[in-house]
Amino acid sequence: MYQIPFTSKNAEDAFKAALVKVDANLVPFREKFPDDTTYKNVYYPRKDRNGEMTGANIGWTTSFWTGILWLAYEWTKDEKYREVAQVQVDNFITRMETASDVDHHDLGFLYSITCIADYKLNGSQKSRDGAILAAETLMKRFWEKPGIIQAWGRMDDPKQRGRAIIDSLMNLPLLYWASLETGNPRYAVAALRHATQLQRYQVRPDATTYHTFYFNTETGEADHGETAQGFADDSCWARGQAWAMYGFPLSYIYTRRESFLKTATALTDYFLAHTPSDRVAYWDLAFGDGSGEEKDSSASAIAVCGMLELAKYLPAQKAASYRQQALEILKSLVDNYSTRDHPESNALLLHSVYSKPGKHGVDEACLWGDYFYMEALMRVMNPSWRLYW
Ligand code: GLY
Repeated sequence: MYQIPFTSKNAEDAFKAALVKVDANLVPFREKFPDDTTYKNVYYPRKDRNGEMTGANIGWTTSFWTGILWLAYEWTKDEKYREVAQVQVDNFITRMETASDVDHHDLGFLYSITCIADYKLNGSQKSRDGAILAAETLMKRFWEKPGIIQAWGRMDDPKQRGRAIIDSLMNLPLLYWASLETGNPRYAVAALRHATQLQRYQVRPDATTYHTFYFNTETGEADHGETAQGFADDSCWARGQAWAMYGFPLSYIYTRRESFLKTATALTDYFLAHTPSDRVAYWDLAFGDGSGEEKDSSASAIAVCGMLELAKYLPAQKAASYRQQALEILKSLVDNYSTRDHPESNALLLHSVYSKPGKHGVDEACLWGDYFYMEALMRVMNPSWRLYW
């Protein structure tokens, strides 16, 4: 018998507390986008490539702010959220049409929770077309021989050529969706090949994950794993594991491949076995209590969403166990990491790590942590929530 540690009423209270912060950000971050992470727990407008604070729509994280607005609108039906989200969606369409900073794999992060969300919630045709264009652009990064999507850099950059990263599993729903919308299977075929290659090579036999993995683009052979944001090449970067815990169930939704559920279950069991006493992960699963290392609350928020999604497709007992543990983690995020009692912060979820090796956004709030915190709360308030992914 499982206890419910966190009810939909608790989730709604936390969501409402977060909306107070969102409301305060509506004016300063209407046309301007916040930076990837806070500075001393406060978001400022995003810096452009010259280091100026312009709030430009560049990088991979601007969509999370728009996604939060769609969640806020969907739950409250308050037009003030929709109005600002719509301004930003138009900006995303322009970004795609002008091909502004779109030469990377993150187009799924950028277009699922902005344009596809708008299309699903409001039936906007121009948002649909913007997202199809994003899928088309993402296809340019697909290497036919190994069957993977290159994550970063120019396709002829020797350091990045044939390099896939585990985060990319979250970019695949854009491609599956594009096939459903257009009737053209090529997007979904590429997505399935990519997911299958990552499942085979990027997931290790002990159910941990490499952050990045190189494939030979001429022979198609798998080469080697390497970290970028984790502690070591052979450690398990917590957020990478969380991306995969959510990403494989998302591939399952569109492909119905049972093996994706099996993989996600193994990854989840490993993640849960390495959660510390307050249930919120350290930035690399190599670390535990007493290590003195920082937590990555964003990894745990993503993991909660992944577990709640995965539980929908598992036998009752396993599903109940995952739901219970997801709620325990979420309760800890609300009680110990949210900004509910932090008037000085304009963020939602404190204590994440963007890149410890890169000394970037360490122990700060981040846009994706805020978004997945809100999505997790939405999932508890409305278990039949229709995914934007
Ligand atoms: N997708 C990049 C990151 O999780 O830091």
